Amino acid sequence: MGYRITALCAMEILDSRGRPTVDVRVEVDGGVSGHAGVPSGASRGTREAVERRDGDAARYDGEGVHGVVATVEDEIATAVVGPVWDSLHELDAALCALDGTPTKERLGGNAVVGVSMAAARAFARSDGQELYRWLPQVAHPARLPVPHFNVVNGGLHAENRLDFQEFMIAPLGAPTFAEALRAGAEIYQRLKRRLQQLGFSTNLGDEGGFAPALQAPTDVLDLLVGAITAAGYETGPNGVMIALDPAASEFCQPDGSYRVNGTILDSAGLVDYLTVLVDHYPIWSIEDGLAEDDREGWELLTDRLGARIQLVGDDNLVTNPDSISEAIAHRRGTAALIKVNQVGTVTEALEAVRRCHQGEFGAMVSHRSGETTDTFIADLAVAAGCGQIKAGAPARGERVAKYNRLLTIEAQAPELPYGLVPRRRDGTDVS
Ligand code: PGA
Ligand code: ZN
Repeated sequence: MGYRITALCAMEILDSRGRPTVDVRVEVDGGVSGHAGVPSGASRGTREAVERRDGDAARYDGEGVHGVVATVEDEIATAVVGPVWDSLHELDAALCALDGTPTKERLGGNAVVGVSMAAARAFARSDGQELYRWLPQVAHPARLPVPHFNVVNGGLHAENRLDFQEFMIAPLGAPTFAEALRAGAEIYQRLKRRLQQLGFSTNLGDEGGFAPALQAPTDVLDLLVGAITAAGYETGPNGVMIALDPAASEFCQPDGSYRVNGTILDSAGLVDYLTVLVDHYPIWSIEDGLAEDDREGWELLTDRLGARIQLVGDDNLVTNPDSISEAIAHRRGTAALIKVNQVGTVTEALEAVRRCHQGEFGAMVSHRSGETTDTFIADLAVAAGCGQIKAGAPARGERVAKYNRLLTIEAQAPELPYGLVPRRRDGTDVS
């Protein structure tokens, strides 16, 4: 048994923002192969796996990835082509050891993650299995996740004055994934019509959400509630809820204060502001409500809102299992965002999910703002059983590719449950 890699190739392709990224192909014994397209973030945590770029200003303003392609085809290929790998875990451990740095800066996180994802696909195919069935179960049994559709974009993902980066709708109460997708798409179209009626542009931001010239988060929230109701859905846990990713690191000032909607707030002031939003709107989850290094703020926010809503760490946790364990120990947040390219290998991302499960933390699998049509995260979200995914708006090819893959998985495996992991009354997971 095991998997013998017979060839490893990479090439430079474009991501959804028109910037170069890496495509990797791993071939195993029997001529079976797996591909992966590497995503790329814009609002990154400072401790993420390092994305290597050429820096040659004559090509793509220095953003080219020929160096990464060469690393995959030379140094990484020399190490991984030939031997029989018992498991993806063993291959990923070898990739980490070959790199030798905590943040994959030597080989490049974008080299390592491409090989890891493409190998997972190739190994699954050589076993004749769908990826979502082949990936190891690390926490909950497989389930179809609640999609979190990012329908209004701000922050670094749009050219408007919205400080908050993402305004998402989450059909928590839908009976199936297909019905959740339908709700998301119908609400998105209602929102578009409403924006047109109000004379706003319906231009899109990087993740396919609208980017109207609004500034106040409450104006967007009012529009979302209006669009949910106009589309015939109820707000609330049995219907559609709202989730926010303010991405607060991006509007945190050098002195640690925050500039929101033209006002300067200290950390406690931002916690008060978020609490008021939760009091007045059907918000069920807030990601990066505070900046990545504002540990006291995170603890205050968790004391204040942790029992009422989900508080997701992204920039502060960067899918790093040890950072997640530390956050759990200090009660900083109640969930972690899971981005494979933030940590660098599939195995480490699965370990991050396992740590979440161990510590009664939630986990939400996520795309990046720069994407390809790769659908790996759809299978990962199902296999991880975490019940939540965010992959952008229910529009634009690179976003709907993930949602359409989830539709296919649901059609193939109708026995899989849909929705959040059920919680007991004391807040602990049932499964
Ligand atoms: P990024 O942001 O992909 O641009 O880094 C996404 C997020 O903050 O969740
Ligand atoms: Zn985020």
